[in-house]
Amino acid sequence: MDLSFLAAAGAVLQDTYTVIPEDAAAHGPVNPWVALAYLVAGVFFILALRGLSSPATSRAGNRNGMIGMAIAVVTTLVTHDIANIVEIGIAILIGGIIGVTIARKIAMTAMPELVAGFHSLVGLAAVLVGWAAYLNPGAFGLLGGEGISAVSKVEMGLGIAIGAITFSGSVIAFLKLSGKMSGSPILLPARHVINLGVLAVIIVLAALFAMASGPDETLPLIVALSVLAFAIGFLLIIPIGGADMPVVVSMLNSYSGWAAAAMGFTLGNTAMIITGALVGSSGAILSYIMCRAMNRSFISVIAGGFGADDSGSGSGEPREQRPYKQGSAQDAAYMLEQAEKVIIIPGYGMAVAQAQHALREMADLLEERGVEVKYAIHPVAGRMPGHMNVLLAEASVEYDKVFELEDINSEFAQADVAFIIGANDVVNPAAKTDKSSPIYGMPVFDVDKAKQVFFIKRSMGGVGYAGVDNEVFYMDQTMMLLSDAKKMVEEIVKALD
Ligand code: TAP
Repeated sequence: MDLSFLAAAGAVLQDTYTVIPEDAAAHGPVNPWVALAYLVAGVFFILALRGLSSPATSRAGNRNGMIGMAIAVVTTLVTHDIANIVEIGIAILIGGIIGVTIARKIAMTAMPELVAGFHSLVGLAAVLVGWAAYLNPGAFGLLGGEGISAVSKVEMGLGIAIGAITFSGSVIAFLKLSGKMSGSPILLPARHVINLGVLAVIIVLAALFAMASGPDETLPLIVALSVLAFAIGFLLIIPIGGADMPVVVSMLNSYSGWAAAAMGFTLGNTAMIITGALVGSSGAILSYIMCRAMNRSFISVIAGGFGADDSGSGSGEPREQRPYKQGSAQDAAYMLEQAEKVIIIPGYGMAVAQAQHALREMADLLEERGVEVKYAIHPVAGRMPGHMNVLLAEASVEYDKVFELEDINSEFAQADVAFIIGANDVVNPAAKTDKSSPIYGMPVFDVDKAKQVFFIKRSMGGVGYAGVDNEVFYMDQTMMLLSDAKKMVEEIVKALD
């Protein structure tokens, strides 16, 4: 096992800890046992991230995360002057019950909006902690001879600003993803100038806040900073269209981490700094990976309104009727049996239909007949990172049969069948050829190179997430299998039996 990540973690923690002595004046001396407990919690968080990098180890990763969080929370509770432990216990209990209930009820397909909703709470928590520290600095160990130090005020201002942006941005992402607000971009004229202007004003306000002294001077500044930060969160996310939301969710995840880290500095809490930095950097890396997978520029995402031009996309336009071939489960079963190599491309529709178990059964039957079956996973297939991997793992599909886009795309030329089940945008050749398409530039599977294409979806009217027509429906070698994905695959299984 490659343990080099532990060395890197050690270096990060060491760096983090060197901050403590300088900060000791503000926050008091650090109890070495507390420092050790937070260090152990930090190592568990790093192991959690490591575990979450593969479906095979993700359960262990989650467990490590829970252990790390338990250590951090218990250490904080037993080593601080907690005003009322009963009240805190009740709050934890209520929050825990709400969390467990939501987690048990939530459909896998609604996970991105849930994540966006939870991020909004992290942002709000950072704002509230920042405000509490501002209003009662003594309770947070922030009162020096001349009030709150300038450094603490910079951290406070940053934490509140990033937290407020995370909150309002996540609320918009939640509303867009859950369909409570239109997914289409809302484009204000001169939005880039407005956004940059507001960001500049926030930075100036943070600097003035750090230099100001006394509540008369600081209060109006921190109020203005908070209000503008809430506003810029809305402004940044409303111009972003539905197809680009996955990047936004992971970017907000990153912001929530940085907000927590900034608050960790204010409070002199190393566990918060470590956790915030881990969340912030892992979210930023994931955003970058997704941008690369969709061939987007990271900078333009952060600037807001990327992927959306004022001319509007092809969505919503009436679609011309074009001839296509439709087949039955029996036709598909017959041809699949004859094939030597089948590549399955799952997408959002497989998740909606919960067709993964039936699909696995179909693949087993084909393999028994000597057919080679592989699964091709696009980085943004479905509605959240790793969505398809999780579903296939749930159906016990072996990991060595599951391939990433760049590892399998060249194999379509040798495939007898490309079996598309509930995917659409990720196989749309418009991404390669049509510059006006909202998905232009996103790498897609070369299914047109396969000898035969089966395309499972419910109707010719339905479109993918980006709302655009797909040339693959009308290709000579394509057979449309129009049905609910689970029903269609179950019928194919019956025909193969
Ligand atoms: P989509 O392009 O969204 O296509 C889904 C397809 O599934 C549609 O053709 C739909 O057609 C079909 N479908 C829906 N319910 C079905 C059912 N019960 N049975 C059979 N088919 C069904 O999916 P994709 O190819 O996975 O692409 C993902 C898209 O979502 C990308 O544009 C991506 O940018 C975006 N996105 C991704 C994420 C992440 S992080 N993965 C997050 C948010 C958005 P019918 O309606 O005709 O059935």
